[in-house]
Amino acid sequence: MRRRLVVGNWKMYGRLDRNKALLEGVLAGVRDFTSADYAVCVPYPYLAQAQSALQGSNVAWGAQNLSQYEEGAFTGAVAPGMLMDFGCRYVIIGHSERRGLFHESNEIAQAKFDAAIKAGLTPIFCVGETLSERESGVTEQVVATQLDAVLNVFGAKGLAKAIVAYEPVWAIGTGKTASPEQAQAVHAFIRQRVADLDSHVAQALCILYGGSVKPGNAVELFAMQDIDGGLIGGASLVVDDFVAICRAAAK
Ligand code: PGA
Repeated sequence: MRRRLVVGNWKMYGRLDRNKALLEGVLAGVRDFTSADYAVCVPYPYLAQAQSALQGSNVAWGAQNLSQYEEGAFTGAVAPGMLMDFGCRYVIIGHSERRGLFHESNEIAQAKFDAAIKAGLTPIFCVGETLSERESGVTEQVVATQLDAVLNVFGAKGLAKAIVAYEPVWAIGTGKTASPEQAQAVHAFIRQRVADLDSHVAQALCILYGGSVKPGNAVELFAMQDIDGGLIGGASLVVDDFVAICRAAAK
C-alpha cells in the first residue's frame, strides 16, 4: 500500500506574518491525520521559518528549485547543500513554470534531479503536457520524453528515491482540473513506463497529481488507483482549503 502525500507549492507567495498564520493553521489542521504524509515547499527566504515552525511535526518542508551545482560563482543560485542546512526533505524539479518561464530543459531538470539525490533530497519531479500538446494527441510522448530524461540516465532505480508529479500545464492555476479519468490514464501510463524497467519501483512509486486541486475535487482524484496524492498550488495558500485537501488524502 502506497501512502498518500500532499505537498503545498507556495510559488512566489508569502510574507513572514502571513506564513506564520498559514503554517500554524496547517499544523493544527493536519495534526491528527496520521495515515498520509504532508509537506510545504516554500520560497527560499522562508525555509528557516518553515523549519522552526514545522520541526518535529507531521508536516515536512522543502524548496521549489535548486542549483545543479554544488557550489561556485553562480550569482543568485542556491546549492543543494544549502537546502539540507535548513532541513529540507523535498525539492520540486522541472515544474512547468521553471520549464516554460525560465527555459529549463529536460537536460537541466536531469542535472538538478541528480544533484538533489546526491545531496539526500527527495526530488518531486514534474511532468505534463500543454493544452496544444494534449489537443494534438501527443500527451504520452511529451510525458515519456520528460520522464526518460531521468529514466535513461539513472534507470528505474533513480526514481526509487523520488516522487513524480503529473501536472498538465493547462490545469495549473487555471481552475481547470483534469478529470479523475484523464489524470488516472496518464498516471497509469507513467507507472507502466517505470514498470517496464522495474515493477517493484513502479509499484512503490508515489505519483502526485497537480493542477487546480481543490477541496471539491480532491476526494475523487485521490480515489483513483494510480493517484497517490497532490501537488497543490493556489489552494495551499488558504488554510481551510489545504487542510481539507489533506483530509481527503487521509481517508
Ligand atoms: P495550482 O498549481 O494548484 O494552483 O493549479 C499547481 C502547481 O503548479 O503545482
